[in-house]
Amino acid sequence: MRRPPAIQLEAISRDNLDDVLALRTARDQRRFVADNATSLALAYALPECVPRAVRCGPALVGFVMWALDRDDSCPWIYRLMIDRRRQGRGYGRAAVLAALAAIRASWPTRGTVRIGVHPENAGAITLYRSTGFVERGMIGREILMERALP
Ligand SMILES: CC(C)(COP(=O)(O)OP(=O)(O)OC[C@H]1O[C@@H](n2cnc3c(N)ncnc32)[C@H](O)[C@@H]1OP(=O)(O)O)[C@@H](O)C(=O)NCCC(=O)NCCS
Repeated sequence: MRRPPAIQLEAISRDNLDDVLALRTARDQRRFVADNATSLALAYALPECVPRAVRCGPALVGFVMWALDRDDSCPWIYRLMIDRRRQGRGYGRAAVLAALAAIRASWPTRGTVRIGVHPENAGAITLYRSTGFVERGMIGREILMERALP
């Protein structure tokens, strides 16, 4: 089995902002996730959002953002993206697991984590299934996936 990459989640700061904004998904993935500038604007407006850069050694490889959703009081992973040049190396899975651990540490009593996924986003659906999420129907135009906190 492939060894999971050693990643860290780090707060967005003046030191990493340019690198976060330079991260890109592939062209055909852009309909699946907002660009990081838009996600950071959302985080500015909604202070419950927790945006994090995904670092592996000297390189920023991706971006993840979660929040305790005001509508259902559940933690949601609102965003996940790995730079197109770094995909397929286990960073996405490692980022999901690190986000779950951080969510668990922040809100120990909130038992269920949710994610909304575009129905055509087969790669992300496979990734979330492999990290314990199951489909729970539709929410708007997206598939709602849930799992218990670890
Ligand atoms: C989805 C995404 C985050 C996955 O990141 P990644 O670093 O490439 O994923 P990993 O290498 O950790 O893959 C973990 C598992 O996910 C699944 N997976 C990931 N990408 C896949 C793809 N394109 N097709 C099929 N399965 C895929 C596989 O099961 C994989 O496990 P394996 O390598 O043992 O087969 C990345 O493709 C991405 O940024 N996509 C664009 C943005 C997006 O769609 N975000 C999700 C919004 S809900």
